[in-house]
Amino acid sequence: MFKAKIIGLGKYIPKRVLTNHDLEKMVETSDEWISSRTGIKERHIAAPEETASTMGAEAAKKAIQMSGISHEEIEMIIFCTITPDMLFPASACLVQDILKIPNTGTVDIEAACSGFIYGLSMANAYIVSGMVKNVLVIGSEVLSRFTDWEDRNTCVLFGDGAGAAVVSRTEEKDPSGIIGFKLKGDGSFRDLLYVEAGGSQKPASHETVEKKLHTIKMNGNATFKVAIRTMSEELLELLAETKISSDDINLLIPHQANERIIAGVADRMNFPKEKVFMNLSKYGNTSSATIPIALAEAFEEGRIHKGDSIALVAFGGGLTSGACVFKW
Ligand code: ACO
Repeated sequence: MFKAKIIGLGKYIPKRVLTNHDLEKMVETSDEWISSRTGIKERHIAAPEETASTMGAEAAKKAIQMSGISHEEIEMIIFCTITPDMLFPASACLVQDILKIPNTGTVDIEAACSGFIYGLSMANAYIVSGMVKNVLVIGSEVLSRFTDWEDRNTCVLFGDGAGAAVVSRTEEKDPSGIIGFKLKGDGSFRDLLYVEAGGSQKPASHETVEKKLHTIKMNGNATFKVAIRTMSEELLELLAETKISSDDINLLIPHQANERIIAGVADRMNFPKEKVFMNLSKYGNTSSATIPIALAEAFEEGRIHKGDSIALVAFGGGLTSGACVFKW
């Protein structure tokens, strides 16, 4: 048996900043409302020529550089996104071409904001089974292209960005590495958060464009409550299954959707706020990219040390949810 561990991290944040004050000029809102309800102060918006794959490739370059492995050694690219460049081909294929990775499998997965944890779990399974040694997992989103910029309920929440990790084989006796996952999905909550048109159910038409059915719709209040319950329960279940006490977790990196959701999860788990990583004030909610961006940033800021136990937890449209614990 093998184990899997993260050996490289990288992030890419597009240059253009959209502040809460900028949004005040676009919809009826205020910096005070957005800051107090969400914790978000600004978000970044991709340039017109940037896409999920180009941003994902930039983050991947940094993760590969940190890992010290060569492009030739990557055997699988798992690209997690709800805003792919196109319906097909997969954005993973486009990254393969941008980075000229010669011998690799390529696949996109769609699990909304839980995407990166699902991607990590697939990388772990590929590696533990002995099928491959090195997997590149990318979370990248251009949510600004699917945002209704006239809807103040949603347009203040989202941003663009990408994060990536290289996950590699290690020996079972290695004290560091991935310990476990908990993954769940419940389609009965599909009306909480969705983009209605553009798929086979409602292909693009004049009507879908006129009715703005290609943009994100959300029931914010219901999502808020479900998010706190789902994330705290799932993480507690995983900790119980892996026999890890929450006191032993050195850093919790939750999906960065809303400061109050994160505080609610920490409260329910009796988890001290100093051990919770948050960067959503700068980036807003970048869906499947929030966790890899936060991981890369926590590492850059020296908040992850050798031997630390790290917990990840996320929820997203679907409803999907996921938790992971690993030792650095
Ligand atoms: N500026 C000013 N007022 C606003 C804004 C805004 N941007 N948006 C909504 N309001 C108004 C509403 O219209 C409402 O007015 P009314 O009382 O006159 O009807 C009032 O503010 C209160 O609205 P609520 O929805 O009750 O506000 P709440 O405190 O619940 O906060 C929020 C709203 C921030 C959206 C919250 O519900 C939330 O964070 N939900 C979770 C959202 C989320 O995380 N989504 C993504 C998760 S999944 C994924 O990441 C893909």
